[in-house]
Amino acid sequence: MDGNLNQNDISHVVEADRAHIWHHLIQHKPFETAEPRIIVEGKGLRVWDQNGKEHIDGVSGGVWTVNVGYGRESIANAVRDQLLKLNYFAGAAGSVPGALFAEKLIDKMPGLSRVYYCNSGSEANEKAFKMIRQIAHKKYGGKKHKVLYRDRDYHGTTIAALSAGGQDERNAQYGPFTPGFVRVPHCLEYRAQWDLSGEEYGKRAADAIEEVILAEGPDTVGGLCLEPVTAGGGVITPPLGYWNRVQEICKKYDILLHIDEVVCGLGRTGTWFGYQNYGIKPDMVTMAKGVASGYAAIACLVTSEEVFESFKDDPNDKMNYFRDISTFGGCTAGPTAALENMRIIEDENLLENTVKMGARIIDNLHNLAEKHPVIGDVRGSGLFCGAELVKDRKTKEPEDEKSVQAVVADCAAQGVLIGATNRSLPGLNNTLCFSPALIATPDDIDQITDAVDKSLTKIFGN
Ligand SMILES: Cc1ncc(COP(=O)(O)O)c(C=O)c1O
Repeated sequence: MDGNLNQNDISHVVEADRAHIWHHLIQHKPFETAEPRIIVEGKGLRVWDQNGKEHIDGVSGGVWTVNVGYGRESIANAVRDQLLKLNYFAGAAGSVPGALFAEKLIDKMPGLSRVYYCNSGSEANEKAFKMIRQIAHKKYGGKKHKVLYRDRDYHGTTIAALSAGGQDERNAQYGPFTPGFVRVPHCLEYRAQWDLSGEEYGKRAADAIEEVILAEGPDTVGGLCLEPVTAGGGVITPPLGYWNRVQEICKKYDILLHIDEVVCGLGRTGTWFGYQNYGIKPDMVTMAKGVASGYAAIACLVTSEEVFESFKDDPNDKMNYFRDISTFGGCTAGPTAALENMRIIEDENLLENTVKMGARIIDNLHNLAEKHPVIGDVRGSGLFCGAELVKDRKTKEPEDEKSVQAVVADCAAQGVLIGATNRSLPGLNNTLCFSPALIATPDDIDQITDAVDKSLTKIFGN
């Protein structure tokens, strides 16, 4: 751990944190008697806390972010050099790393051509919603403005993004919400809503979207926003047949397909983007977390040329452009870090590694399921995996959130950080989440699942 910090310094940091930091997504009462966790240092797949305890990070910084691992000197150096040359200029002007990263990114996204920079996943999604609304005003007298979103999906923390949020516990107490957002059913076959299976189930789940469109009126629906693989809503990989039908429905009713790649984006599922596993042709794609692996804040909204063109068809109309501002979208650290992040993924063959290591986690979890009946379902794509815990495999009664969190805490005590869906879905915060950096080795994967094995035995006794 950091040799520059002695025990007095660390005690001071802990007290300063306790006195002044408002942590995200956590209750603070326990910090009156216990220390908050402070992560002091990271290298590769490992992090060290304030007590010098080493942890293997099975969650890429907690929220699927540090895709290329900690301590990347080449990213730090590139960002340092760029900051000294030019740290910032607002986005009405271009920047060298901004243009170069956009070019590389578009190269990975056939069919799309324009990149709009901003700072967070929520912000990128809001910008997509704004574009859909502006197109509705320009082309359809404002009528075709509604955005459909899916039960169990999440698109961000701001009020409009929560209005498109399919996780009722996340949304609770933050209403009233923005009008114009309409929910469609989720597609998780394990929690089936129709008595079908496989491809038939996938098609039926997509048809449910069409039913909502018809009920709302196709001339009122402008966009459909979906996660390619639902993350915080329970690691939901879509059933076969789903995406083809979704694409057909969007075409049929002239609805823009907006894919939220904030979690899957840049490598997490073993392809550059999650949607590329399913042959989808989106009109808009948003991304954030893994774009620069957390070395700098960056988010992108990428669109087709057709969407872009619709904002510049009449230069005499002074309102005819995307009248949006993102102050920190002009920071050059983001695209600089993103360029180097992408180079690392390519040079170190991390997509290939993600496919291999993802298959290993899934295999290991299936083996654990043979031993531990509490594992009801195993799902995942690449290094983006989940295990849903149930009290009874037949009834699929979900395991209590408290017991699921006890597994997470016990793994942490063993020096392995894993995640779990939390405060997302009432009564259904029961999925353990595994998303180590794309550099994970077979030993790392086995250490993570060995810890889970021990915790499940300890907590559920089998
Ligand atoms: C799928 C998805 N979209 C959007 C967001 C919001 O991103 P941010 O926290 O950067 O605003 C998240 C965050 O977890 C997410 O999981």
